[in-house]
Amino acid sequence: MDSLPTPSPLMGASSRRQFMQYLGAGAVCAAANRITPNWLTAQPVQTQASQATPLFDDFSFQEVGKTLEDAVTLPPGYKYEVILKHGDKIHPSGLQFGDQADYLAFHLENDEAGWLWINHENSFFLKGKELLSDVGGSCIRLRKDAGSGKWRPDLTSQDNLRVNGLDTKIKLLGPAAGSKALDGANEVVGSVGNCGGAVSPWGTFFSGEENFYHFWGDFDNPKSMDAPLHGLPDDLQRNPRHYGWMVEVDPQTKEVFKHTALGRFGHENIAFGFTKDGRLVGYMGDDRNAMGFYKFISREKYDAAAGKGNRRLLSDGTLYVADTVNGRWIPLDPEQTPVLKEKGFDLAEICVRTRVAVEFAGGTPLARPEDVEIHPETGEIYVCLTAYDNGTDNVGAIMVVREKEGDHGALAFEHQVFVLGGKEAGLAWPDNIGFGPDNALMVTTDYEVVEPPANSPHEWFGNNNLLIVPTKGEHRGQVRRFMSGPLGAELCSPTLSPCRTELWVNVQHPGDGGRGHWPEGGTSQPRSAMIAISRLKNAEERKPENLSGA
Ligand code: FEO
Ligand code: CA
Ligand code: CA
Repeated sequence: MDSLPTPSPLMGASSRRQFMQYLGAGAVCAAANRITPNWLTAQPVQTQASQATPLFDDFSFQEVGKTLEDAVTLPPGYKYEVILKHGDKIHPSGLQFGDQADYLAFHLENDEAGWLWINHENSFFLKGKELLSDVGGSCIRLRKDAGSGKWRPDLTSQDNLRVNGLDTKIKLLGPAAGSKALDGANEVVGSVGNCGGAVSPWGTFFSGEENFYHFWGDFDNPKSMDAPLHGLPDDLQRNPRHYGWMVEVDPQTKEVFKHTALGRFGHENIAFGFTKDGRLVGYMGDDRNAMGFYKFISREKYDAAAGKGNRRLLSDGTLYVADTVNGRWIPLDPEQTPVLKEKGFDLAEICVRTRVAVEFAGGTPLARPEDVEIHPETGEIYVCLTAYDNGTDNVGAIMVVREKEGDHGALAFEHQVFVLGGKEAGLAWPDNIGFGPDNALMVTTDYEVVEPPANSPHEWFGNNNLLIVPTKGEHRGQVRRFMSGPLGAELCSPTLSPCRTELWVNVQHPGDGGRGHWPEGGTSQPRSAMIAISRLKNAEERKPENLSGA
């Protein structure tokens, strides 16, 4: 596989041509290459948990057309129901489900019970304490309904909890905890900008603090001084360095941690894997323009018997940034990359001022690396590059990374473009990805919906959507639209339910731009919500009047 040309250090409008060249070479590459499945098996092959009819079989569904409706639009034969929406009570004490539902994930403890986690990324209309209370995340008991067999959140459970930006106490772990770079802090208050995430191999939830600068700014971005947007009052001012971390939430003990060894930047999410010799690996993207793609490798091996004791692996290891030009991983370590030592960085400083360290170390600036996921069969790493471009050409891409010899512990890799966005491709601004039936990619988009310019993705495709892109077979790399969201919304975190008969999706910030009233309609306030999509089962459900969903 060919290496791709160097992208410009800055991916703004002035350097768009270079970025296009970067992606353009990849497109040729993608067409010429066919990735052989099963060449890399660091991740176990997922088995079908249910023998029921899959939610969709690649391209068997009828594609949804361009819509500008204030509605969730699905192919004929499907329905949806709203499971949780902003403001719903999720605890007997009155705790509320927060705003802007983004990432969702579940962890099952047994055949009947588990946990649901949902990130609350931000809010466009709340202020001050109300704003900080409504961001963070919700952790809710999940139970299998004995009658329907469906998994649903139990909103009455005393176990349910909220992590928020206002008063949740969070322990720092790793090299920067208690360090000078953090003024000696071992504990911080609150989590904000919670975007994507993961479930750890030991069954806890991870949540990435992405646009933390919206709240308290960021003076450690080498590309620009990021000023805060929310205008929080003096009594709610905080040290920006307490944010921009990868957060871990333990639903059973209710402990919350920030892992400083995983670096501080605009964390989108994390994808866990293992090296061939059994060490823990986490791949991560920094969702700002011209920022890096990372992986962390633990020093010691994962021990399944140690359960949550494996958490310590994330405090002792090496963080690497990708050099996609030369296909190598650069260690962000003062001993292994001497320029960092010369510039005065110790390990703690690298953890806190990661973006600055990456500049010195030579990490490749990429076009907004967002969601990162490991293909369950092949072990390839899929990375959304969500570069903005409102012209007529390419608008975002999905990159595939193959580690050398199929080992997540390798320090060399190859990469190519799996799908190049654009009008013809039917894809623009890919943001979140997940693996569906037959390991087809489920891709959600996030392009501009507030006064979008002419000849933009909004004009081409209508509202933001959910696309299916097979990763193998005759339709590999082709795009088909499965779902279109309501006005103003982006769709987040497409996830098959535990029994794989439902597709769970978050509808984030519907009504953005002052238009739209989803899901309650009329003149109601629009609300972000989690929905469950399923196939219609019988003739009654398939009547025309029942086809448009709940
Ligand atoms: Fe929160 Fe990168 O989207
Ligand atoms: Ca995202
Ligand atoms: Ca997004």
